[in-house]
Amino acid sequence: MSTPLHWNTAYEAGDTTRGWYQAEASMSVRLLQALNVPSEASLVDVGAGASVLVDDLTALGFTDITCVDHSPVGLAIARGRLGAAAGHVTWIEADLLTWSPPRQYDVWHDRAVLHFLLDQADVERYRTTLLAGTHPGSIAIMGVFGPEGPQMCAGLPVRRYSDEAVTALLGEDFERLGSEIADHVRPDGDTQQYLWTTARRR
Ligand SMILES: C[S@@+](CC[C@H](N)C(=O)[O-])C[C@H]1O[C@@H](n2cnc3c(N)ncnc32)[C@H](O)[C@@H]1O
Repeated sequence: MSTPLHWNTAYEAGDTTRGWYQAEASMSVRLLQALNVPSEASLVDVGAGASVLVDDLTALGFTDITCVDHSPVGLAIARGRLGAAAGHVTWIEADLLTWSPPRQYDVWHDRAVLHFLLDQADVERYRTTLLAGTHPGSIAIMGVFGPEGPQMCAGLPVRRYSDEAVTALLGEDFERLGSEIADHVRPDGDTQQYLWTTARRR
């Protein structure tokens, strides 16, 4: 199951043992830049874990970044890596399925989290959190496994998403801006197909 314990163990094993590890969050940064998201924008990285997105955005001058994850080990790795700059980031240990966002963010970023939710009820809970954490005009950047993506990741079954399925999940509340298929090269050299969708909250 996708429990904090499961993810803590995965993070304790080291960066290059994790299939989703990337040295740079290039795709996310490219999409943010393509959408002209200013560095003053508030951004929440849901299921951030130890992701380097926060490092990259800090280097680009973003000052309002929130990282949410239910794995304290994942978050601690990112915090430790950032050093003094970690003090300028909001770190929240929470389960996305029950989390009540304390504010509405300009950008909702999800890389490799949504596709672990297999029960429709959990997807609905995720949507509830997404709507609570965004406002009209907010941008959603969703990176999930694509139609030819893997069926397992981190020892867990995952859902592969089509463009239509992501758009349907976002629903009428979001205007789809675009989507892109991109391969992620894992540390072991294998590739995984991701589908990146961007949308704006109506
Ligand atoms: C495959 S990792 C991706 C991490 C990060 N987004 C990245 O790109 O490196 C999935 C992350 O989602 C987190 N996660 C999974 N289910 C969660 C939930 N219900 N609430 C909060 N975090 C969750 C895990 O702890 C893990 O850090």
